[in-house]
Amino acid sequence: MRLDARTIEDWLRTTDPAALAELWGRADAVRHEQVGDAVHLRGLVEMANHCQRRCAYCGLHRDRPLARYRLTPREVLNAARRVRTAGYGTLVLQAGEDPGLTCGLVAELVRKIKAETGLAVTLSLGERDDATYAAWREAGADRYLLRFETADRRLYAELHPGEPDGYRRRLGRLLALRQAGYEVGSGVMVGLPGQTWTSLAAALQMFADLDLDMIGLGPWIPTPETPLIGRVAELGAPDDEQVTADVETATRVLALARLLCPRTNIPATTALAVLDPERGYATALTRGANVIMPNLTPARYRDDYALYPGKGETWRENSGGEERLYAMLGDLGRVVATGPGHSPRYLERGGGLTQEEKTCCRP
Ligand code: 5AD
Repeated sequence: MRLDARTIEDWLRTTDPAALAELWGRADAVRHEQVGDAVHLRGLVEMANHCQRRCAYCGLHRDRPLARYRLTPREVLNAARRVRTAGYGTLVLQAGEDPGLTCGLVAELVRKIKAETGLAVTLSLGERDDATYAAWREAGADRYLLRFETADRRLYAELHPGEPDGYRRRLGRLLALRQAGYEVGSGVMVGLPGQTWTSLAAALQMFADLDLDMIGLGPWIPTPETPLIGRVAELGAPDDEQVTADVETATRVLALARLLCPRTNIPATTALAVLDPERGYATALTRGANVIMPNLTPARYRDDYALYPGKGETWRENSGGEERLYAMLGDLGRVVATGPGHSPRYLERGGGLTQEEKTCCRP
């Protein structure tokens, strides 16, 4: 569905309960019609918390005191086996932007995982050069996640100091991923200090313009010892312009993303579950989401992948995480998907072909 910027912003700002009820209902109906009732489970393995970047919001900021770890290839392979055993169709390998995860090391790992488990593999390893993206795709990686974080170029520069051209580069990487044939996922944080309703509406339009196969979004969560904590007042927009960082607002964005990109995959993200441990996932699933990414990182590293506080608590096998998840899906009348769970949008676009390639190669 096409929605103009004004209409999107009105939906984002409305305080009318009836309008909101309509938004939730429409998003849920479109989700049901376009991607069905099956919920795809992706096993998330956070393979390293080393990071060379200094993103102002992020708990993996390179100057932040943190016990740094990198899984060995054997540990990653074991985690992949656990994802397979759990019956999930996809393994997501995420890390900080860690130069120690070299092109060759990751390619070799992906090759082994594909050969042994047959899982779909999603990578989320930051900005890399064309050759690296190509090598990983060649090794068998199916998907790549790289959020653009905000649609506001100036705010992006504030949040990523020392990278004057960072925003353009980020969008360039998303195009490179598409060219390399990946299913491409991106998204934003909701409620970053300085993020306005107008820029959030622009982000939603970008989801549609980029024709994303996956859209990941969650509320910004203040993280101790990150530079952004000290800059909230300075960066913050005037009250009536500043986007709020809460579950309701983030799920408004999610619902609108579902309307704009009906056949894309949209996860109920961990950040939502951190703000609302009881109902965060369920709320997202009833407002447009069709994916959950249970955390299967080996337990002893989990607290060190400290993007934001409370993250390690949302998913613990020993507190019944898995059982609770299945019970919740049952309560919502949803079923667990089987198979790799490729984005329907990606498949109908004709795999990795860009619009240009498609038009030039068809009679
Ligand atoms: N709050 C919420 N999300 C965060 N991320 C990083 N730091 C935070 C935070 N403090 C998100 C970013 C990044 C993803 C891996 O985690 O959007 O792309």
